[in-house]
Amino acid sequence: MQNLKGKVAVITGGGSGLGRELALRCAARGMKLVLGDVDEAGMQETLNQVKALDASIESATMRLDVSKLDQVEAFAALAKSRFGGAHLLFNNAGVSVGGPVWMNTQADWEWVVGVNMYGVAWGLKAFTPMMIEQGEGHIVNVASAAGWVNGPSMAVYNATKHSVVAMSETLALDLRDVGAKVGVTVLCPAFFPTGIHDSARNRPADMADTLERSAIAEERAAAIKAAVEKGRIKATDVAEMTLKAVEDDQFYVFPHRKIKELIKLRAAAADAETTVFDSMNP
Ligand SMILES: NC(=O)c1ccc[n+]([C@@H]2O[C@H](COP(=O)([O-])OP(=O)(O)OC[C@H]3O[C@@H](n4cnc5c(N)ncnc54)[C@H](O)[C@@H]3O)[C@@H](O)[C@H]2O)c1
Repeated sequence: MQNLKGKVAVITGGGSGLGRELALRCAARGMKLVLGDVDEAGMQETLNQVKALDASIESATMRLDVSKLDQVEAFAALAKSRFGGAHLLFNNAGVSVGGPVWMNTQADWEWVVGVNMYGVAWGLKAFTPMMIEQGEGHIVNVASAAGWVNGPSMAVYNATKHSVVAMSETLALDLRDVGAKVGVTVLCPAFFPTGIHDSARNRPADMADTLERSAIAEERAAAIKAAVEKGRIKATDVAEMTLKAVEDDQFYVFPHRKIKELIKLRAAAADAETTVFDSMNP
């Protein structure tokens, strides 16, 4: 989708990190914004930053839990009633929890799968028919390098991000099958600085964290936090690369080029059939 000016961008998880930067990059292109997040104060801060950039940008926000289909449908209805539709959807909201996998609780799985997997599925279900009918649209699913290569202590997150890559590829094929003029991009970044390592700040009380962490799990969590904080590519760069990919109708986006090397190494490990591939220690 080339000319984004005046079009409607819908962003889940628009109250922090990448979602906020996507909002700012869309605003810089003159798009209208529809933001959804469980963090209402975060969304307000995003809008403050948008207004500081360009006070004329039109926007709407909704307190949204993406794991609930009825709420995502209401979010799509908001875009339709307020701005007549949605041209660009970012299925961006995401959360993370540590492992090891045999210790993860049912609540860990339900929370992270709810946001990262069902959140994307419900976004596709609520918005794709609108875009097909409009005859124009583009969907960006925010996966991760963790959708391709696996490190320790992240089984729940890794499983959900592999599912986002799978849904994105299948979505693109399904849209091609029906000749729809709706583009798809799957974003697969490695670590970059945001609030993701502190996802528990928005964890619902009825899915509280009861996992007792071992010393090794604490060590892994500290290593992941450090990797996120030290990421050299910033959220604003990832957002700009994503917008360029939309404008170029590019499907896969790997902001960190080294991930493509890791994917090849994983394929080589699979070809050799002997030892598990460790993305943290390739
Ligand atoms: N930061 C990284 O290193 C990294 C790497 C790869 C992929 N990602 C992905 O980027 C996306 C954005 O995350 P981020 O890094 O900006 O983290 P972040 O924590 O800064 O932002 C995530 C946003 O999602 C919102 N959110 C959480 N649960 C929600 C729910 N149930 N419904 C709606 N919104 C909800 C949060 O309130 C927050 O505003 C996620 O999908 C994440 O998995 C991040």
